[in-house]
Amino acid sequence: MKTIYSAIQPSGIMTLGNYIGAVNNWRNMQNDKDNKCIFALADLHTITVRQNPEEFYKNCMSFYALFQAVGLDAKKSIIYLQSHVHQHSELAWLLNCYTYVGEMNRMTQFKDKSAKHADNINMGLMDYPVLMAADILLYDTDLVPVGYDQLQHIEITRDIATRVNNIYGDIFKVPEGFTPKIGAKITSLQDPTSKMSKSDPNPNGVISCLDPPEVIVKKFKKAVTDSDTTIAYDPENKAGISNLLGILAVATGKTIEQTVEDCQGLRYGDLKLRVADSVIEMLRPFQEEYRRLIDSKDYLMSCAKEGAQKASEIAEKTLKRFKQAIGYVVD
Ligand code: TYM
Repeated sequence: MKTIYSAIQPSGIMTLGNYIGAVNNWRNMQNDKDNKCIFALADLHTITVRQNPEEFYKNCMSFYALFQAVGLDAKKSIIYLQSHVHQHSELAWLLNCYTYVGEMNRMTQFKDKSAKHADNINMGLMDYPVLMAADILLYDTDLVPVGYDQLQHIEITRDIATRVNNIYGDIFKVPEGFTPKIGAKITSLQDPTSKMSKSDPNPNGVISCLDPPEVIVKKFKKAVTDSDTTIAYDPENKAGISNLLGILAVATGKTIEQTVEDCQGLRYGDLKLRVADSVIEMLRPFQEEYRRLIDSKDYLMSCAKEGAQKASEIAEKTLKRFKQAIGYVVD
């Protein structure tokens, strides 16, 4: 049995990048009987960037509903809010004392976010990967399914775990990152060389999983491609078209080779419409389920509470093991 762990920040919208690069795979992994899956809303990570309290609260509820709408099932998996399980903060503090400032300084995301939020380069922003290491290590995780942008954080998690194990013996399981073959970096529809991101100031670059069909069509129609006319999968030289083909492959469940073959002879404009239609179809059941769930606040809260209880039981054991090894008086 493999333990799978992953998380997403409940900030802004859930993008098509999050859906394809992350939650869609989580659902597939959950449905494999050999996996034990644990998924969290990384709401402690979210306040590294200042949040409006009402919006933050709404986003947390909305993302918890989105989790369930995508098919993450509270009966099969543990699904919880990170802030409900205090062991995350506690382990992050302990791990801080086994992590070097120089390591955190080198993190790409820290550098990017510091540039973006120059007026709020808080300690949390720098410490972000340590909290993420705590998330993963608390659950003796084997595999962490993520998009490419998170791989550096998995590497540092492995470094920290190995460092602790070298000092105290076998305390933490050293996890592996896992990225999907297609879709680990869905790019912006307006700038196909950069990641599709919730914080993109250009709304036409980003598809929200809750965008209505007409908006999805409009955004795909405006997608930036190239001045060529051939349809080929070549992310380096044809970033825009390759991004569209990758999205189409995931949305239709076909391989990239099959997708390229199916699309031969299409004009770019027709390809864009085909991608838009298949994304609308992929998201339709998800959007319907979301609309049904979002008003069931009591139900969502009871699932979240149960998830946190289960997570906390596992997390406490790992935390105790580590504290004992350090020499703490543990009751
Ligand atoms: P976050 O909230 O930025 O993104 C959640 C997941 O979505 C993936 N992703 C993408 N994949 C493909 N194409 C894209 N354009 C795209 N944009 C986002 C991300 O790689 C990620 O897998 N630090 C994490 C949350 C986190 C976490 C963890 C993840 C906290 N603790 C422990 C794994 C394990 C984050 O901010 O992800």
